Amino acid sequence: MSLNTNTWNRLRYTVYLPIYDLIADRIFRKYRQRSIQLLQAKPNDAILIVGAGTGLDLPYLQGYTHITANDITPGMISKLRSRAEKLGIPVNAQVMNGQQMTYPDNSFDAVILHLIIAVIPDPVACIKEVERVLKPGGKVMVFDKFLPDGQKPSLLRRLFNQVAGTLFSDINRSIGSIASHTSLQVELNEPAALGGTFRIVRLRKLV
Ligand SMILES: C[S@@+](CC[C@H](N)C(=O)[O-])C[C@H]1O[C@@H](n2cnc3c(N)ncnc32)[C@H](O)[C@@H]1O
Repeated sequence: MSLNTNTWNRLRYTVYLPIYDLIADRIFRKYRQRSIQLLQAKPNDAILIVGAGTGLDLPYLQGYTHITANDITPGMISKLRSRAEKLGIPVNAQVMNGQQMTYPDNSFDAVILHLIIAVIPDPVACIKEVERVLKPGGKVMVFDKFLPDGQKPSLLRRLFNQVAGTLFSDINRSIGSIASHTSLQVELNEPAALGGTFRIVRLRKLV
């Protein structure tokens, strides 16, 4: 039985909230910026941020007019809303499960998945939802830590993951195998933080 459930994540991210930005802002700043650059979105594109946390991506989305953001943790969404207000960025933000979103099919030009695919209990359900809400030709930017595609985790890594996956994030997920449950195509996969353990990946929904 996995301890990684939506209830657990809501609880632990409520506890992490006061110190979240101290950990996730400075060290990941340049990769967030790079990922959003690679999205190559147009100012009036409809952009969705899934598992958006406190909104640390928002400073790199100034000038975009149709931003939607969700997160399962209510405290994260409150903090994101006040950040958006301070930055003067209009954001339609709601508490929502990224595995079961309420947006209509084909409603976004771009989706941002930063540090969520390795956290969310069911990454395949999430990526299928992303595929559903994305318009044909739409793009997805993923920034997260992944096991190289095709590599099997060692026993030690699997044991360590019991703790890491419960308290931080799963260290044994592969983006290729998660995306293979959809028709999304991997367009780009470049090394990011920690010597390439973190990756920046762009996926595209075929027209
Ligand atoms: C590591 S944080 C990443 C936050 C943000 N994307 C960032 O880059 O700073 C993971 C976030 O995923 C959220 N989360 C976990 N499970 C979720 C789910 N099922 N649906 C939506 N958000 C979820 C948590 O509440 C938390 O804010």
